[in-house]
Amino acid sequence: MRQIFFFSLCLTVMLANDFITKEEYAKMLYHNPRGIGCDRCHGEDGRGLELGRYKDGNRTVIIKAPDITKLTFTKFRQALITKDHRLMPQYFLTNKEIKTLYYYLTKKRK
Ligand code: HEC
Repeated sequence: MRQIFFFSLCLTVMLANDFITKEEYAKMLYHNPRGIGCDRCHGEDGRGLELGRYKDGNRTVIIKAPDITKLTFTKFRQALITKDHRLMPQYFLTNKEIKTLYYYLTKKRK
């Protein structure tokens, strides 16, 4: 019984809205979305990073993570729930988390 009480107390504290700001929460999620941080590939500001390059005959192939700051929410969400990426890992984010990440990335553009 005491454990349940303690658990719900912790939960209340964690969920309390004024504990961290929306910006802080969004930033945290972008860097630590239960898996490798989005920033590692898409960069601190979401504008994309070069991940590597290799030579294929005479041509150099550059592997990049795209800019994700200019997408519509529908496209953004679709990319996060699909399973068929070539490189990007699959995440298991809730709708609310996807919205928070979208808010974080599009807010920075201003
Ligand atoms: C390992 C590197 C990597 C990580 C980590 C990563 N991505 Fe990606 N992302 C990519 C690459 C590369 C693509 C292009 C599609 C592909 O090849 O997988 C992509 C595509 C996308 C797209 C679609 C872009 C478009 O133009 O349609 C979105 C949106 C996106 N990523 C968001 C995120 C978010 C949000 C996170 C964190 C939860 C994240 N990515 C983490 C590498 C990464």
